[in-house]
Amino acid sequence: MISVSNPVLVRSRCSRSELKGVSIMFWGLILCLICSFSIWTNLRTLSHHTSLIKSEDDMKREPLCRKLPDGVDYCEIEGDIRIEANTSTIYVFTPDERLGPNSTTSWRTKPYIRWYIQRNVKLWKVQIVRYSERENYNVKCKHDKYHTAPAILFSVGGQVGNYYHSFSDVIFPLYTTSYRFQRDVHFLASDYQGWWINKFQDIFNVLTRHPIVDIDNECWEVHCYKKMVVGLKYHVDLVVDDRSVSEYSTGVSMQNFRHLLRDAYSLERKTSISRQRGSTSPRLMIVSRKKTRVILNQEEISQVAREVGFEVVLADDVSTFDVPRFANLVNSCDVLMGIHGAGLTNMLFLPDNAVLIQLIPFGELSVIARIDYRDPTPGMNIQYLEYEISANESTLSHQYPIDHPVLRDPGSIHKKGWYAMSSVYLDNQNVTVDVGKLSATLVQAMKLLVRN
Ligand SMILES: *[C@@H]1O[C@H](CO)[C@@H](O)[C@H](O)[C@H]1NC(C)=O
Ligand SMILES: *[C@@H]1O[C@H](CO)[C@@H](O)[C@H](O)[C@H]1NC(C)=O
Ligand SMILES: *[C@@H]1O[C@H](CO)[C@@H](O)[C@H](O)[C@H]1NC(C)=O
Ligand SMILES: *[C@@H]1O[C@H](CO)[C@@H](O)[C@H](O)[C@H]1NC(C)=O
Repeated sequence: MISVSNPVLVRSRCSRSELKGVSIMFWGLILCLICSFSIWTNLRTLSHHTSLIKSEDDMKREPLCRKLPDGVDYCEIEGDIRIEANTSTIYVFTPDERLGPNSTTSWRTKPYIRWYIQRNVKLWKVQIVRYSERENYNVKCKHDKYHTAPAILFSVGGQVGNYYHSFSDVIFPLYTTSYRFQRDVHFLASDYQGWWINKFQDIFNVLTRHPIVDIDNECWEVHCYKKMVVGLKYHVDLVVDDRSVSEYSTGVSMQNFRHLLRDAYSLERKTSISRQRGSTSPRLMIVSRKKTRVILNQEEISQVAREVGFEVVLADDVSTFDVPRFANLVNSCDVLMGIHGAGLTNMLFLPDNAVLIQLIPFGELSVIARIDYRDPTPGMNIQYLEYEISANESTLSHQYPIDHPVLRDPGSIHKKGWYAMSSVYLDNQNVTVDVGKLSATLVQAMKLLVRN
């Protein structure tokens, strides 16, 4: 889901050229993407053709930075690495003989998984310096000290103001990228936002045993490493699949991630109530939203859910809660129900075999809705049900005449682009759910719990 976040801008204390033309940066980035991609594909083709006689030199010429298939910037660097924060540059001092005369020696890289995000994501430069030219560069680590642990540099700007994107864009990719280092890794957070780091501190504690570094502000000290990653590995939102083979083989999985989350928040329940078969009522949590996509008849829905046999737990959207408390509350439930929106991200904390019920707002939103909250459920061992809101359950049916394209032909509104679509269907409708219809879904959820 692409939703507008509310980034809290933190002005870097070092960078002076920070605000120099976002559009220049943007077109520069595009140009750079095109160049580096064509250089990359050329190199790939070259190395493919010569693979039978692949010498050590060919291997050394593999670019440090590349594009992952989904357009994600990603660099893996080993060697004499020096990070100069005040110029957002990562220098890699390299013996001359390792570089061909035409080798690429610098890259612009955006350490955030969504390349199209422009707001609040700083570009970093990776610059190879030949030994013969090192005198021209005054970047020395303090006392010539190199950190022994490797580092991962990533942005915590972009869309992290949104709870879903906190997990899909940063926390989960950070888990997959850092897994092989087994907590002995420095997290260098660019576009640092203290409130955000604090909010998820318990999760970072299970991913690294070192404090998180506000790297943009390390202006008076050069940090030196022998090994680092710039950017995060990413394939699909909240999914580990066969595109991530290399991580798979090391043990990365959504189940393992959920296990870490249970550790981080001391969540007690690994599996939902099913096994006890009816001894206690299963708990159904309804996450509510307050401003958009509001469920107007929540009380009536609760009543029907109780009649079906659930104990109902009402919860406001997570943004107002502290995560540890909310994670525990969600983990105590067997069903999580809510309308499409970031609150459903809390399914991460549900026990195995629990059920997620996504209410899909009116307006042909099921494709988007399923990518965000259905597709990750198999990997999480969570069962999924959905309920589509029809026009007569949506306030849109009062806001527009019956034959208006908004009601009659949502596809035509989608064709006008994301903002036209979202301003109508995501930001401007509340719903009164037809409980007669919904009760069938609730009964089905109950059956799924008992069956397992
Ligand atoms: C380097 O580039 C120049 C000019 O494009 C070309 O003539 C030369 O053959 C290239 N050298 C190598 C080793 O690729
Ligand atoms: C960055 O800071 C270092 C001191 O750590 C200084 O030597 C260097 O000149 C600074 N670079 C710029 C571009 O200001
Ligand atoms: C609302 O619309 C749905 C689907 O178009 C229909 O099945 C249902 O009967 C309608 N309900 C009412 C109360 O009009
Ligand atoms: C939906 O409900 C919220 C909260 O009551 C309200 O602020 C908002 O204006 C409503 N939106 C529509 C489209 O009715």
